Amino acid sequence: MGSVRWAFRCGSWTPSRSEWLFAARCIQREEKDRIGQFVFAKDAKSAMAGRLLLRRFVCERMGIPWSEIRLERSPKGKPYLAAPLKINSCPEPLAWSFNVSHQGDYAVLAAEQGMQVGVDVMKTTMPGSSSVPEFFRIMTRQFTAHEWSAIQSADSEHQQLAAFYRHWALKESFIKAIGTGLGFNLQRAEFHLTSDPLTQERALNQTRMQLDEEEEEDWIFEESLLDADHHVAVALGPEDKPGSTPLRPSLPPPTTFTLLSFSDLIASASPLTQEDPAYWDSFEKKAEAPQRQSETHTSH
Ligand SMILES: CC(C)(COP(=O)(O)OP(=O)(O)OC[C@H]1O[C@@H](n2cnc3c(N)ncnc32)[C@H](O)[C@@H]1OP(=O)(O)O)[C@@H](O)C(=O)NCCC(=O)NCCS
Repeated sequence: MGSVRWAFRCGSWTPSRSEWLFAARCIQREEKDRIGQFVFAKDAKSAMAGRLLLRRFVCERMGIPWSEIRLERSPKGKPYLAAPLKINSCPEPLAWSFNVSHQGDYAVLAAEQGMQVGVDVMKTTMPGSSSVPEFFRIMTRQFTAHEWSAIQSADSEHQQLAAFYRHWALKESFIKAIGTGLGFNLQRAEFHLTSDPLTQERALNQTRMQLDEEEEEDWIFEESLLDADHHVAVALGPEDKPGSTPLRPSLPPPTTFTLLSFSDLIASASPLTQEDPAYWDSFEKKAEAPQRQSETHTSH
């Protein structure tokens, strides 16, 4: 079974004019238009990286020429491959599932064959305008009593925040795997972590989930750190179709994310549309991020 974990550090990407215009030519027109509407450059860059990661994956791992890839979104927004439906002549290959996330300084993609996948990256940041206890109070309903006890048992405020974002990434990865988006009662999925610390060197997969208070044996959660501040969680579950094979207990050990450069992102790209110089003019005028966000630092 195939497995792909890629990350791109969009936070330190300062695209040149030619890079930005080329990237814009290599994504579908409606996505280019959507990205063009972001007020801040940070959001435009991370969404662009997300689209390039998706297309690179479909092209390089599914073997579909860049120009033939047609990505659409489910009614709740989850991207899927709409065309081409038939991939070369392989007899019924295991279907790939893929998902992207972009937050903090990274855009990430996780893809898996024969399972549905959701991914979420979260940066540990100090709450902008409130204290940590006040921030947790506002967020009370997002986690269960068991999860709050795990979050608040960490020693320092920074470690509590890291535990908070670790739980958050886990919940989001599950919501994104099933594709429901907003509207899912987050208290239904409760996470039980082991005491093993997360590191950049290896991914953990011991975390268990209870859904509606029942242990979900078929779901696996891979967790790792991209750097000291970025948690990433990958949810892997049974395919959402009748007769799908349940997870095999002999899954390969989880792998960490491979960091790609911009050249990697566009290595197999081919332009879909004409160059649009105005797209650069508009991008160049955007502020990087809202003032408060650019000043928010994590304190260790
Ligand atoms: C899209 C959603 C599922 C996740 O949003 P997010 O965490 O802000 O964003 P991420 O960066 O992780 O992911 C965004 C990407 O996920 C993909 N996506 C969009 N809708 C999706 C869905 N319903 N399911 C899975 N993936 C989706 C898209 O590729 C999107 O990027 P793009 O729009 O630039 O192409 C959001 O609608 C949502 O429901 N969030 C839950 C909010 C919440 O209450 N969280 C609390 C957790 S404790």
